[in-house]
Amino acid sequence: MRHLLSTEELDRETLETLLATAEGFADVLARPIPKVPALLGRTVATMFFEPSTRTRMSFEKAAKSLSADTLSFSASSSSLSKGESLKDTVLTVHAMGVDAMVVRHAATGAPWRVAEWLDIPVINAGDGAHQHPTQALLDCLTLKQRFGGLDGVRVAIVGDIRHSRVARSDVFAMATLGAEVVLVAPRTLLPLDIAGWPVTVAADFDDVLTELDAVYLLRVQTERGGASVFPSLREYTRRYGMTGERLARAKPDAVVLHPGPMNRGVEIDAAVADSDRTLILDQVANGVAVRMAVLFHLLGGDSDG
Ligand code: CP
Repeated sequence: MRHLLSTEELDRETLETLLATAEGFADVLARPIPKVPALLGRTVATMFFEPSTRTRMSFEKAAKSLSADTLSFSASSSSLSKGESLKDTVLTVHAMGVDAMVVRHAATGAPWRVAEWLDIPVINAGDGAHQHPTQALLDCLTLKQRFGGLDGVRVAIVGDIRHSRVARSDVFAMATLGAEVVLVAPRTLLPLDIAGWPVTVAADFDDVLTELDAVYLLRVQTERGGASVFPSLREYTRRYGMTGERLARAKPDAVVLHPGPMNRGVEIDAAVADSDRTLILDQVANGVAVRMAVLFHLLGGDSDG
């Protein structure tokens, strides 16, 4: 693996290797001194052309936990406002001496372009509505911890799938690891290219609710037009929101996941978000471990660390 750009190209062996490495790093993170010298002397640049809390900070924590140095680019305080292009921006940061670049961009395919321009590993931290592979890895790790593995686990991905890079990444990673994935959304919020995806589809959440082991709620992506197909957000909640009443009808051991940031009161009730049925903060914690695993594999870290 030279870059990590998409989950579509990852086979089961690669996914399992990354998750096993991440489990090892989760143990490291639980130590009194949560740090190993595996990437000492390396520099990881985080290049975020779109906002982020979880992905950016967990990549930085992951790099530091591997003893790498970090360089952090933020679009809002950069020379982009003076007209500098994406290519000139990444070439400039690369020239400072960078060993891997983490890229988030609103344009689909931007991390692939960066990978063409540079001779270092590039990690896609989210490109438009396309892919977010490390989110899928942390989601798979969270499900694996809960169910022992993903084989036969029935997962519903619910809501604004059309605008979701998380859904697109999760579908391929989860299905490759053996999960049965059902997309729950109206036709207007399904991607146009869904033929060939390893999923089933349900328009009515309540039709499948009681069969699910895990419910993965998506944020309504208002900035990409996700709310426009409903007369109101209240209507979205009525049809696709995880309310306390729906959670009460789900299997007693069914769990709720969300990639964050949440719209409390829209796709998830506040009481559900704060309940012990959600794994949302486990997902966040696992984000550090899987991003350590990805950096470690891409940068050929010393396993003695
Ligand atoms: N899940 C996720 O990508 O969150 P951020 O936008 O905060 O990175």
